[in-house]
Amino acid sequence: MMRKTQLSETARLLKRSVMRDLMKHAVDPQIISLAGGFPANDCIPVETFRASMDRVLTRDGYRALQYGPPYRPLREWLAAYMQQRGVQCEPEQVFITNGAQQGLAILSRLFCDPGDPAVIEAVTFTGVQQVTVGRRLATRTVATHLESGVEVEALEAAFRSEPRPRLAILIPNFHNPLGVSISLEKRQRIVELAARYEVPIVEDDPYSPLRFLGSAPPSMKALDTAERVFYIGSFSKMLAPAMRLGWIVAPKGVEDRVTVLRESIDLESSQLIQRAVFDFAHSGALESHLVQLNATNLRRRNAMLAALEQYLGPLGATWTKPEGGLFVWVTLPETIDSWDLFHRAIAKKVAFIPGAAFAVEGGFRNTMRLNFSNATEERLRDAVQRLAEAMEN
Ligand SMILES: Cc1ncc(COP(=O)(O)O)c(C=O)c1O
Repeated sequence: MMRKTQLSETARLLKRSVMRDLMKHAVDPQIISLAGGFPANDCIPVETFRASMDRVLTRDGYRALQYGPPYRPLREWLAAYMQQRGVQCEPEQVFITNGAQQGLAILSRLFCDPGDPAVIEAVTFTGVQQVTVGRRLATRTVATHLESGVEVEALEAAFRSEPRPRLAILIPNFHNPLGVSISLEKRQRIVELAARYEVPIVEDDPYSPLRFLGSAPPSMKALDTAERVFYIGSFSKMLAPAMRLGWIVAPKGVEDRVTVLRESIDLESSQLIQRAVFDFAHSGALESHLVQLNATNLRRRNAMLAALEQYLGPLGATWTKPEGGLFVWVTLPETIDSWDLFHRAIAKKVAFIPGAAFAVEGGFRNTMRLNFSNATEERLRDAVQRLAEAMEN
């Protein structure tokens, strides 16, 4: 057996993702899971995607199954999609990745060497932490306001302190786990700060297509005249996680560096999947899929908020009210530890993720992340009622 001391420090430092451990509860059919970050199983467009796969294999034959460069029509489609959202970019600035997570890994390599400082939110998606720990970065954390997104004064303080951070990773829309979006005013200030302090911003945005209420503020990339913002998108939540397909939009001038970094990790994304996802998007199926998905998500979000109002409000809980995405963040009375509650909830056949799992520097023990997309309205109501019972036990 190999000794642990033979492994790199990085391999030893990386913790097993708590999410992965908790996720096993998500697959037990007895348990109503509010734990996952999954788009709704019943909304995944299996048949329409099968048609795209068939068309691609019939038309492209071996080319769909060979090594190949990033699929140009998909890059062009993505450039046009980003342009609709106000981002002026050429297909050459769009890099196909295996999901947003790989985008984070690539951009961390583009800017940071081990030990370099990077700014992340104090409560953030666990995959962001896996990247900063995995790359041995010195993280500085900033707080996130539950109604307007990351705290800009804290961000400026982090940008101003020496040594200057090499990178900041922010989640702009329907934050995982907080459900909040960054306000327009804050977006403008963030791009100004990035320009003034010359800190690249990674705008990690898998959730913006999942808006079901309100109007979308421009992405930070669209406001970024100084070319400091690197945008990351993903098909995971808008189509299906198993595509493992996402993209980076980078400013001009770094194309060949991003390309070689990407190639050093895994050569390229699957030709078959790139072609099938392009077919799906180009045929208009993606657009109608999103209309359906967001209508379902809105109904489920409303059911969850109504159940929270009925069952958890009287117990002193408060929660965010997302206009899209997959998550509600609940703050419980301070006397309640959500890890203890988790075990009591599992006994009542409900799973969620304790908020502390997302807290980079600890704390947030009286919080939890609830997913509303992957259960029917009836089951969501039932689950929240059981949570309330678990709190009262
Ligand atoms: C904020 C955020 N970034 C990145 C990812 C990773 O997404 P992907 O499946 O595209 O790698 C997730 C997944 O949950 C996420 O919530």
